[in-house]
Amino acid sequence: MLPDSIGEEEEQERQEISIRQMDIDDVAAVYHLGEHLFTSEELPILYRTWDAYEVADYFTSDPDYCLVAEIGGRVVGFILATTFEKEGTAWKKYGYVSWIGVDEAFQGSNLARRLYARLEDKLEDHGVRMIIADTEGDNEKAIGFFKKMGFSARSQHVWLAKTLQRPGRPAPPKRGARGRLAARLKKAGSKGDAD
Ligand SMILES: CC(C)(COP(=O)(O)OP(=O)(O)OC[C@H]1O[C@@H](n2cnc3c(N)ncnc32)[C@H](O)[C@@H]1OP(=O)(O)O)[C@@H](O)C(=O)NCCC(=O)NCCS
Repeated sequence: MLPDSIGEEEEQERQEISIRQMDIDDVAAVYHLGEHLFTSEELPILYRTWDAYEVADYFTSDPDYCLVAEIGGRVVGFILATTFEKEGTAWKKYGYVSWIGVDEAFQGSNLARRLYARLEDKLEDHGVRMIIADTEGDNEKAIGFFKKMGFSARSQHVWLAKTLQRPGRPAPPKRGARGRLAARLKKAGSKGDAD
């Protein structure tokens, strides 16, 4: 019986979940977890905007609103948020949920709900009257999740993207009729020179 009870105890300890404020040692783990979740195929905009500086910036400017879910010493979920104030608006102080993610192996076990609930309590304590979140229009998981948390879609938000020419590789100039004529004349002239 003893080995069994030790096994059970270990299993329980392994599964013990803590929702806590992020600390400096979690920055790398949060970043890497996000890298797995925000993939270029499924969530291209989130993938492109997610980087280590993003995590570090939220952590240094709003540590109160950066939380992680930890199981057996491993970070398996996070939420990063901030607040802003806007004078002259009905709600004045707003919360903004910028990033939330849960390791796929632990999705569907209420971790995101717990992370969000803890954040919402903090925001409410700090005078926030409205919380805003956004995500890609086809991110059904996130939209389903936020709706369950009581959010409603307020407006359509469209991401636009433009690919710019690589620096150092200017596009070849387009030649109009005059340009082509000038080039031919130049070529003819240089042939004449060589003859
Ligand atoms: C969105 C995400 C954080 C949800 O995490 P999760 O831990 O699986 O969510 P929870 O288990 O806490 O679910 C809480 C509620 O949201 C709902 N929900 C979660 N995933 C859902 C989905 N795919 N579709 C519909 N509803 C969903 C659940 O039904 C649950 O409500 P219920 O308890 O009444 O059933 C997770 O899917 C994720 O990490 N996605 C990838 C990263 C991402 O897209 N983040 C958002 C943009 S920053």
